[in-house]
Order: sequence, then structure tokens, then C-alpha cells
Amino acid sequence: AAADPAQVEAGEAVFRRCAACHMVGAGAEPRVGPALNGILGRRAGTQAFRYSPALVAAGADGLVWTVGALDAYLEDPRGYLPGTRMTFAGLDRAEDRAAVIAYLASFQAG
Ligand code: HEM
Repeated sequence: AAADPAQVEAGEAVFRRCAACHMVGAGAEPRVGPALNGILGRRAGTQAFRYSPALVAAGADGLVWTVGALDAYLEDPRGYLPGTRMTFAGLDRAEDRAAVIAYLASFQAG
């Protein structure tokens, strides 16, 4: 389905809560967390970044960042992936998670 521009725009605002640690878009580089260009459909823990052993193991075991997996991780990072170093409380609202995922999906080519 085509991206909903209003949802992508809402997701850009939600992403401010991620931007202390993550970059996305042209020129994105790793910061506290890995750059997030092209995250949809990618195997977890495979960017040039010093990940936690937990995230590397999850990727090696087959974790791929589908919409569903991102939704679960962003709701409760340490509940979904014990041992992750992403010290982020999570996004409680499903609509915020859907919006930020739509925003990330708009950077698939970068
Ligand atoms: C990892 C998204 C907020 C720090 C990740 C990954 C995703 C992600 C998808 C996995 C990347 C991969 O497998 O390559 C987001 C989103 C956020 C957010 C959408 C906001 C809603 C934050 C914040 C911080 C942070 C605020 C810092 C306090 C990290 C770190 C990792 C990571 C350090 C690597 C975790 C590990 O190695 O276990 N993030 N993140 N993130 N994020 Fe975030």
C-alpha cells in the first residue's frame, strides 16, 4: 500500500524521540544507536555499529525488522529483546508506533 503522507508526517514528529540516538535520511551516520535507513525488511543487528550481543544473536537467529517486529520492539524494547542496549522506554501508543514505522519506511532507498 502507498504511504499515507499524513502518517509519515506524524511519524517525523514521533521520531524526535528517537533522534537523540538515531539518524535517518541522507547522510545518516551511527550515533548512540545505528543509522536507520533501509531498516524495514533488514536482518537485525547488521549495520556498522557496535550492537549488544543480544541484538546480534537475535539477528543471527533470524530476526528481521518487519512492521510487526518493529512494532513489538518499539513498544517495549527490553521486554521484546532482553539484553538490548537501546535504553528507551518505548512508545505506548500504537498510532505513534505505526507513524514512526511509516516514517522509517520512507527512507528505504537511502
Ligand atoms: C537499536 C529504532 C529510540 C538507542 C535500534 C533498532 C531500531 C531502533 C529499529 C535496531 C537497529 C538494527 O537492528 O540495526 C528506534 C526508534 C526509536 C529509538 C524508532 C524511537 C521511537 C532510541 C533511543 C536510544 C536508542 C532514544 C538511546 C537512548 C539504540 C541503541 C540500539 C538501537 C543503542 C542498539 C541496541 C543494541 O545493540 O541492543 N533502535 N530507536 N534508540 N537503538 Fe533505537
